[in-house]
This record gives sequence, structure tokens and C-alpha cells, in this order.
Amino acid sequence: MIIEIHKFASVTSTNDIAAEYAKDGAKEGTLIIADTQTKGRGRMGREFLSHEKSGIYMSLVLRPEFSAENSLLITTAAAAAVAKAIEKHTAKTAKIKWVNDIYINEKKVCGILTEGKITPTGMLEYAILGIGINLTVPKGGFGKSIENVAGALFDTEDVFDKEQIVSDILSEFSCYYENLLQKPHFEEYASRNMLFGKKVDIIRAGVRVGEGVAGEIADDFSLCVDTENGKTKLSTGEVSVKAAE
Ligand code: BTN
Repeated sequence: MIIEIHKFASVTSTNDIAAEYAKDGAKEGTLIIADTQTKGRGRMGREFLSHEKSGIYMSLVLRPEFSAENSLLITTAAAAAVAKAIEKHTAKTAKIKWVNDIYINEKKVCGILTEGKITPTGMLEYAILGIGINLTVPKGGFGKSIENVAGALFDTEDVFDKEQIVSDILSEFSCYYENLLQKPHFEEYASRNMLFGKKVDIIRAGVRVGEGVAGEIADDFSLCVDTENGKTKLSTGEVSVKAAE
């Protein structure tokens, strides 16, 4: 994939800017990257805090030739690519919290948000792959609302090469993307499943609808969960890890 990079000091959300580029005909491989975002967002409409220079905030325009049903492959391939790149640069173990978050030492260091435009026939006209990574803890801390869950890759600013991290993520992702429908990233993704064996709440549209024990990642990237009503597979929604009793 040939990458064309557009850098900004500050944007609302790199996903929004990338979507504007895509609507204007930008080619696959157009990358929007910003030092900070004023309205960074995550899944379920949540805010993604994007402090200046303490993170990577980037969005890639994709034009996949497959249906929107396969969008999960983009998110999961990106998660595997980010996890590999993180380990190369930090020598720390990166786990994946199904479906789109990367954790180090039980703290979230990266979130991924894939959005797109679907044609009337259900194909993806374009997809925007947004990746946000906490490189360091922002000067004033992460803030009360997320300080217990958020973490960062590095302790200080002078120990990493941001451009090299970005480049490694993109090259890992590009390898997977070439044959994405064959799920080349499955092992890399499934082996990092941080939820395996954990008690979880099952959440749909922000509402807790059940609980169970998380199992493995199925071959369609859904999460297997053992509930009191038997085994189920989650393909959308999210889970939250229950506190130990
Ligand atoms: C999540 O935590 O649910 C996903 C977070 C995704 C954040 C990235 S940062 C770059 C891109 N722009 C956004 O507004 N969101 C994504």
C-alpha cells in the first residue's frame, strides 16, 4: 500500500478529516495524522482524550473491495499490527481486549475505531481506520474519568521514535491487508486475547444484558462467552471485565 501522509498540528478528529478526504476521492493509503485532537472519539460515542504530543492520533483511508460485514477484519488486523509494533518498540507484552483495545499491564494504551460508508449494495465505499495510542502520560495526568484504566507506552518523551512506530504499524497492517479476507492475522490476534478466562459483563448499546466467562476468539473473530444459558458468541457490542469478588 502506498501511503500519502497529511500532517496536522490540531484537528477535531483525524477520522473526520480522513472521511472528508475520502469523500473528495482520496486514494487508499491516504493517512491523516495529528499532534492533538479536540474531539477525538472512540466506540459507542465515547470521548478519546488526545493530549498534545503525548500520543499518536492517525486515520487511514481504505477502499476495500469487500462488504461492510467484513469490517471487523480491518479493526482486528490493525489491533494485531499495533500490538506487534508496540512490542518491537517497548519490549512489553501487548494484549488485546476484544475487540479493539490494546492493553499493557492491564492498562489501555491504544484504541481503534473503524468507520466507513456503505454503498446501497452493502459494500464499503471507503473505510476509515482510526488508531489512537498513548505514548506517554499527559503532563496533568489522564484525568479522573480514565486514570484507572489508561496507561502509556513510555515513561518519558525522549525514548521513542514516533515516526518509526507509525511506519512499523502501517507496514504490519499493509501485510495483513493484502489478503485480509483470508484472515492472515488470526493467530496474532487470538493469541493476545486478554479476556480469556475472565468474568465479564455483556453490554449492548451501553446496557448490561448478561454476564459470563470469556473464552477464546472464534475464527470469525467473535468472542466466545460461557453464560448460565450456555455458550454464546459475541460479534458486536462489548464486554467489561468484572472486578474480582
Ligand atoms: C476506542 O477507544 O473506542 C477507540 C479510540 C480510537 C481513537 C482514534 S485516535 C485517531 C482516530 N480519531 C478519532 O477521533 N478516533 C480515532
